[in-house]
Amino acid sequence: MNAIRKLGMLALLWPALALASPAGTHLDRAPIDLKDKVALQRGAKLFTSRCLACHSAAYMRYNRLRDIGMSETQIKKDLELPEDVKLGSAMQAAMDASAAKLAFGVAPPDLSVIARSRSADWLYTYMRTFYADPGRASGWNNLAFPSVGMPHALADLQGEQKLRVETYEGHEIRKLVPDKPGSLTPAEYDAAVADLVNYLVFMSDPSKLVRPGLGYLVLGFLAMLFVLVYALKKEVWKDIH
Ligand code: HEC
Repeated sequence: MNAIRKLGMLALLWPALALASPAGTHLDRAPIDLKDKVALQRGAKLFTSRCLACHSAAYMRYNRLRDIGMSETQIKKDLELPEDVKLGSAMQAAMDASAAKLAFGVAPPDLSVIARSRSADWLYTYMRTFYADPGRASGWNNLAFPSVGMPHALADLQGEQKLRVETYEGHEIRKLVPDKPGSLTPAEYDAAVADLVNYLVFMSDPSKLVRPGLGYLVLGFLAMLFVLVYALKKEVWKDIH
């Protein structure tokens, strides 16, 4: 009994433990919408063109993108897939994992289910809080992931931010200030990252989009079964009553 109670306490505390980010970084809410297929398609495009260079998504097959409304021709053309990549194949990293480890000190993890291990809000914050740090080998650091091994993969879009540390009533406040502009405005960049995170959330559980439909199908089947079984019961019992 006692052990069960302890487990219950842990289950209650778990979300709080998981949400506490290491440096206490404030997480911005990710404005995502899994029903917005056009946004998901933009996110898929950004993901395949920018992230697959180093990361893989081994549980995700290209043809699964039909679930977000892409035709096979669109998948091939919009994502600029090389001729030898089959639509049924998983999303592989362009870079070999051991070469990546040599280059960055850490192998880039597979991103198939990253939205489940990190939250959408964490990912949205992470992709927007890279800042230039000449003290790091890559030249980059990150507020959500201090001393990260990943360079800023979207720096040309966002531009460069600098860290400014201010002290306010004895508290240290770490702020990012724009330093060099990118090709997108800050609002456009936030929207692009929202699309990317939307896609990462879809990828971590692709069947979420089809599951509600499946539920109705099962309920419909059960309702029909009930009618049949009821008719059968009446038939069987009619002479007995
Ligand atoms: C140049 C190679 C490279 C590219 C391109 C790249 N990453 Fe990374 N990424 C890394 C490396 C290396 C790490 C591991 C960092 C560490 O653990 O310190 C990493 C870590 C991450 C993490 C943290 C994973 C975790 O929880 O530990 C996320 C999330 C991530 N990358 C997302 C992305 C996304 C999204 C893109 C595309 C916009 C992208 N990365 C593009 C190299 C890359």
